[in-house]
Amino acid sequence: MRTAVSKAGRVPRIVRLEPVAGRANRAALAGRAVSAERLARRVAALGRRLAADYAGTELVVVGLLNGSVLFVADLIRRLPGPLAVDFVGVSSYRGGTRPDRMEFTNKLRLDVRGREVLLVDDILDTGRTLAAVRLRLEAMGAARVRVCVLLDKPARREEEVVADYVGFRIPDWFVVGYGLDFEERWRNLPFIGVLRPTPPDPVGTPIRPATA
Ligand code: IMP
Ligand code: MG
Repeated sequence: MRTAVSKAGRVPRIVRLEPVAGRANRAALAGRAVSAERLARRVAALGRRLAADYAGTELVVVGLLNGSVLFVADLIRRLPGPLAVDFVGVSSYRGGTRPDRMEFTNKLRLDVRGREVLLVDDILDTGRTLAAVRLRLEAMGAARVRVCVLLDKPARREEEVVADYVGFRIPDWFVVGYGLDFEERWRNLPFIGVLRPTPPDPVGTPIRPATA
């Protein structure tokens, strides 16, 4: 796994949660992993590093829908440009990384042939999505594809993915906010929160025996 070192230097590791304000938030969230202010500072730092690394290069920023939208919007405002931005959607197919078995639900409009591509996502989890999209972009003729993720959850990795730029490294928590969702909710939360585990089935729910 080559994700331990980021081109953006040492990656801040989130290990503890802060309390959240508001009854509704407290009921659903175990706590706040990254505040809005800390997100802004880290995105600015990533932007400075990207601006230096890509100085003189006309970059194509490719975000993955829908989770990366807030991150991409903030990140590109930290880049001097000129650059192009596009988004791809990927079907939630979980069976592998072969590009021919992955479906783009939103096709890339830009021609990436011979271009420097920065592939941006909200979180690197198993790595399946980014591994597949990366292969697809390379197959489309991109000169080079680098990966930038806001969050890295290395505990669950299944595919070897090189995340060149990482915002924060987090434990195996299910996080929401700043673009990340649970069942399409919470994307608008201005900070990164940790969802409480869903309560167990109510007492008395019959347990279905495993079929042979
Ligand atoms: P991967 O292919 O397993 O790396 O999955 C990456 C995608 O899964 C991300 O783009 C997210 O949409 C989703 N995901 C993984 N972990 C979380 C999480 O903790 N909260 C919300 N979405 C997540
Ligand atoms: Mg996503």
